[in-house]
Amino acid sequence: VCLLPFRWVSKFHVVYINVEKDEGAAQLTSAGDAFDRLVSGKLRQLLSICGPPLKKGKTHIFHGLHQDFPSVVVVGLGKKNAGVNEQENWNEGKENIRAAVAVGCRQIQDLEIPCVEVDPCGDAQAAAEGAVLGLHEYNELKQKKKPVVTPQLHGSAESEAWQKGVIYAEGQNLARYLMEAPANYITPIKFAEHIEQKLRSFSNVKVHIRPESWIATQQMGAFLSVAKGSAEPPIFLEIHYLGGANTNDSPLVFVGKGVTFDSGGISLKPSSGMDAMRADMGGAATVCSAIVTAAALNLPLNIIGLAPLCENMPSGKANKPGDVVRARNGKTIQVDNTDAEGRLLLADALCYAHNFNARAIVNAATLTGAMDVALGSAATGVFTNSSWLWTHLYEASVLTGDRVWRMPLFEHYTKQVTECPLADLSNIGKYSRAGGACTAAAFLKEFVTASHWAHLDIAGVMSNKDEVPYLRKGMAGRPTRTLVEFVARLSQDSHNTK
Ligand code: BES
Ligand code: ZN
Ligand code: ZN
Repeated sequence: VCLLPFRWVSKFHVVYINVEKDEGAAQLTSAGDAFDRLVSGKLRQLLSICGPPLKKGKTHIFHGLHQDFPSVVVVGLGKKNAGVNEQENWNEGKENIRAAVAVGCRQIQDLEIPCVEVDPCGDAQAAAEGAVLGLHEYNELKQKKKPVVTPQLHGSAESEAWQKGVIYAEGQNLARYLMEAPANYITPIKFAEHIEQKLRSFSNVKVHIRPESWIATQQMGAFLSVAKGSAEPPIFLEIHYLGGANTNDSPLVFVGKGVTFDSGGISLKPSSGMDAMRADMGGAATVCSAIVTAAALNLPLNIIGLAPLCENMPSGKANKPGDVVRARNGKTIQVDNTDAEGRLLLADALCYAHNFNARAIVNAATLTGAMDVALGSAATGVFTNSSWLWTHLYEASVLTGDRVWRMPLFEHYTKQVTECPLADLSNIGKYSRAGGACTAAAFLKEFVTASHWAHLDIAGVMSNKDEVPYLRKGMAGRPTRTLVEFVARLSQDSHNTK
């Protein structure tokens, strides 16, 4: 038995494997190569003894190679020079780095080594994202927690990009935290307070936590009708981030569905898997986290964040199927299914979003199970009336790897929600399940007059089993990084965008 003393500092390196045909030999990244020279070629020697080149995501651990670096994890990085893959609509090189670094960092965590230096692999932002996303886990309520590992950049070049990656990933982790937390911990008021606390240190941010009485004076009858079924009072969270050159520059307005628990109401959901509906505030979590991240990055634009927060519960006071409610803009809605509650909250919040002379209005919501049926967890569905907005969202997503896919806003679907016996609109499509994500989007469109609006249905990307290799199983916080990258792009775009 050989026992190797571990020091408090431990590095791991990522091997750059060339898996292209006819070039069987493995190649090291430049950091890997430098380390190999430091240990007089022993790393290469060991790797060749260990067998064929490491496949993508597979690892070897070596101990005792160098006294300053008692453990080294080597990870297969996949194809050399991978870039944007036009079929996959993402940057494969960046995705490979995120995945490889996440795997390596978890190995270090399993070894209970508290500190790891990470090979930037030529893209320190992607490497930092892989490390910080890959290590995240919700263990707030467990007595036994996984050891804390602090990832650091190996070498001094690219430290700005590394830091940016850390901030992007921490943004997504904030959304994951809020989504994963049980509904008895993250109630509407607790959600709002958590976000307020995250924004407290920024002097250019103002947070309003609007109570039920304010919501009533705003005549948000659709939102209130959902909230009234619950003992937990609703909150309308309103965030103003003023990072722009002028405080009166037209803001980007984000709106997020904030149902802290969706039981379905009187149209009760089946009990199996209902616990996942604690994440039905994923829209609010991702847009608020994106704003927290934009503030941390000090992005030069103004953003307003709006989150209607409540529970959807069955009770003597709850909406009943067939009830008619009135939204802020006067439109009446027949609540044919109390489980289609997200669009009721969003109807009022979208009306309110028109108060701010917005550059663009972007809402996110875990809106329909049908979205999950359509695309699964591959991409967020984007319904938009603006090709300008679409292009920015799409280009952002290629970089982040948290993809979007454009969906239709045809009049075809509008007809299916406007033909309604008692009111202006029904909250479900008349052919019930057919095109469910599209009829939901068509419903929201009835509350929008802005010419740059996008609705992101994030129900399919709400949680991760094992599809995204650098996220552990659980609530995914997607597409926070895409929203942040989108905001960063807008902040560079000229203001003359309309
Ligand atoms: N929050 C759900 C949608 C959802 C389902 C999100 C699964 C994430 C995973 C939403 O409020 C809902 O229940 N929608 C209904 C709409 C239907 C009644 C028209 C649905 O999708 O079944
Ligand atoms: Zn529902
Ligand atoms: Zn819902």
